[in-house]
Amino acid sequence: PMGDRVEIFEVGPRDGLQNEAREIPVADKVDLVDCLSRAGFARIECAAFVSPKWVPQMAGSAEVLDGITRATGVRYAALVPNMKGYEAALAAGADEVAVFASASEGFSKANINATIEESLERFLPILEDARHRDMPVRGYVSCVTDCPYDGAVAPEAVAKVADRLFAMGCYEISLGDTIGKATPDSIARMLLKVRDVVPVGRLAGHYHDTGGHAVENIDASLSLGLRVFDAAAGGLGGCPYAPGAAGNVATEVVAAHLERLGYETGLDAEVLAEAASMARALRDG
Ligand code: HMG
Ligand code: MG
Repeated sequence: PMGDRVEIFEVGPRDGLQNEAREIPVADKVDLVDCLSRAGFARIECAAFVSPKWVPQMAGSAEVLDGITRATGVRYAALVPNMKGYEAALAAGADEVAVFASASEGFSKANINATIEESLERFLPILEDARHRDMPVRGYVSCVTDCPYDGAVAPEAVAKVADRLFAMGCYEISLGDTIGKATPDSIARMLLKVRDVVPVGRLAGHYHDTGGHAVENIDASLSLGLRVFDAAAGGLGGCPYAPGAAGNVATEVVAAHLERLGYETGLDAEVLAEAASMARALRDG
């Protein structure tokens, strides 16, 4: 793979911090994003316009977007579950948004209080408006191999939701191993189905490292053609509605691994290390 480019989509300021019980001051989040902005990412997810009753940690998202120093060439992304969140993200100046669905009904209900079908219907007006504004919308699919409520998830169920999100205009589909239970085998089985309905160049791997397999799962995904992976500086993270979910795979670990394999990430290892220790300090309070 000498010289092949692999992009890491930094999700630490959102997925990394959303699960922290302690209220992290906006200024600290801004410092983390500003540090990450110097590391060479093209995309950083740093906000979620969700209900503050459901995820209190993300309540300051507009202030975070307002406080950061925007670097040229970086798109600052926000998670939105519905039109209300989408409008708030637009008002706050997000450069792109992400809608999030699940491949399993149990997690869909627990995380966004909707069936899969209801959630996809909620996303339609978002995609419709975004198309007119040229606002990029990313689509997440959670529980791509395992669900904390429903158990094993069929690859066909993932392909179905990925196909729907792509058809409604999501420019990229990020496949979430929400609870970090996936293995290279289950990831490969899932990807082989999803690749049939969404071009592999439009897929991203979003792997949590609860089971310690995230790096192997990235390797399995690389062999099947994926070239975008989500990760969080310092390996922070988890989802409040996925019991037992631990951190996202750590950005600095993935970057070092990819470089060792001969891929180019465009990331500055020293700045990354600084961001990782900042993130860990936020977690440890
Ligand atoms: P609901 O209670 O069914 O919503 O929640 P509702 O429409 O009935 O509204 C109830 C109240 O919430 C109302 O306020 C609304 O205005 C308000 P009230 O009248 O009671 O004062 N509300 C909002 N407030 C702010 N922003 C909004 C918004 N929408 C409604 N956007 C809802 C449904 C979707 C809102 C809720 O379930 C929710 O916010 N869920 C988000 C959960 C979440 O953020 N989870 C973590 C992110 S997903 C994840 O981590 C997985 C991922 O990383 C990939 C992976 O790892 O698999 C992406
Ligand atoms: Mg996640």
